[in-house]
Amino acid sequence: MDSRQKELAHALVEQVECGVIVLDERLRIQYWNDYITQCSGKPLRQALSLELTQVFPEADTPQLSQMLARARDQGEHAYNEWRESPNLLNLPYNRFGEPVPPRLQNALFFPFTDDSDRPCFGLLLYNTRELSSTNSHLDAALKALCHKQIEQEQLIQKLEKANAQLLQSEKLAAIGQLAAGVAHEINNPIGYVFSNLKTLAGYVHDLVRIIDAIDQAASLEELRRLKHQLEYDYIRGDVEALIAESEDGIDRVKKIITSLKDFSHTDDEEFRLADLHRGLDSTLNVVNNELKYKAEVLKDYGELPEIECIPSQINQVMMNLLVNAAHAIDDFGRITLRSGQQTDWVWLEVEDSGRGIEPHLLTRIYEPFFTTKPVGQGTGLGLSLSYNIVRKHGGRIEVFSERGQGTRFRVWLPLRQASPQSCQEESRPDE
Ligand SMILES: Nc1ncnc2c1ncn2[C@@H]1O[C@H](COP(=O)(O)OP(=O)(O)OP(=O)(O)O)[C@@H](O)[C@H]1O
Ligand SMILES: [Mg+2]
Repeated sequence: MDSRQKELAHALVEQVECGVIVLDERLRIQYWNDYITQCSGKPLRQALSLELTQVFPEADTPQLSQMLARARDQGEHAYNEWRESPNLLNLPYNRFGEPVPPRLQNALFFPFTDDSDRPCFGLLLYNTRELSSTNSHLDAALKALCHKQIEQEQLIQKLEKANAQLLQSEKLAAIGQLAAGVAHEINNPIGYVFSNLKTLAGYVHDLVRIIDAIDQAASLEELRRLKHQLEYDYIRGDVEALIAESEDGIDRVKKIITSLKDFSHTDDEEFRLADLHRGLDSTLNVVNNELKYKAEVLKDYGELPEIECIPSQINQVMMNLLVNAAHAIDDFGRITLRSGQQTDWVWLEVEDSGRGIEPHLLTRIYEPFFTTKPVGQGTGLGLSLSYNIVRKHGGRIEVFSERGQGTRFRVWLPLRQASPQSCQEESRPDE
């Protein structure tokens, strides 16, 4: 190397943004460049011939010993990095002597020989501020991501809770709606039974008058006159009719109350064997008020074994389907109920002759709050609630609809809940 080349090399070493330290065999400082002086705040002359760890006590670490061992014993270049404080060497300033926070510090420790063949060690130190900041950005992004994930999990938990509450309130709303319908249904028979009772009370009063007259009447003729005057013959015929009609009315009320009890089973949330047709019939009785002015209801039931289900929930599903069917009919139409079995599955079907569903809405009808009904008329929860219930049973809902022709909902349910979650995927009915 000529002197020009040496000058160039020296200028480069003094100006490079990188610490260059030369140590002798015993790790005594022989030289460092201006970068180290500026960044450490220590002048070279005070450090010359001192051991590295005397000048930089923080460097006395197992990592440095390992690097030294590799460089000295195996003649290798040993590389290490210090991601955060403390660094290998504490360099608290930048090139211009201004304080800077600790940064990612890379260190390369390697053996070499000088002009006279004496073994020496070189130590190169460079801070990769960019890398470090990218790294810290990455760290921050990762932390934010973790945070987001936790937030999301919390949100999901909240949603699940809200969903459970919604189910509950939807159930309450449904019960409220039902109660109104049922009240109407019961009101009618109760009304005429009450009016019959009043008429009967009048008749009894007249009959008592006729019987009392037996003791007081002067003649049989007078008694006959009274009987005729009080229209005994008419009373006699009417009493029978009134009593028969009242019995009918009371029977009807009894039937509604039984259906209501069957339908609700509010305290039973357990899977048990149940007769789906019986549930469907009681549901029909309960929603009769919603259906009777909108459609004639036809039943085309197949043979069904008892299946393992939560009956009150399946009733809810069928009620939602029936009410939707009635709402889809503009004037007066037809609702057909069908059922059947296929291997380990049963199905229940509600078909209406209503408006049908627009094809592009078919994928949305199960979304919570999706409704095409005017504000105040539909909450849009009926089908989402039904979907959840059917899923919980390991079943599924199919829908077939044609605009202007009608809609058919088919609910598939497995016969048994072997293990309530797993049976969803096992055997599916053929499409
Ligand atoms: N049988 C059907 N015929 C036509 N459209 C239907 C039928 N069933 C459901 N839909 C459509 O799906 C939408 C969602 O039904 P869903 O039962 O979830 O809510 P909703 O009936 O609008 O309100 P809610 O049941 O909460 O009172 C309805 O608004 C309607 O547009
Ligand atoms: Mg509905």
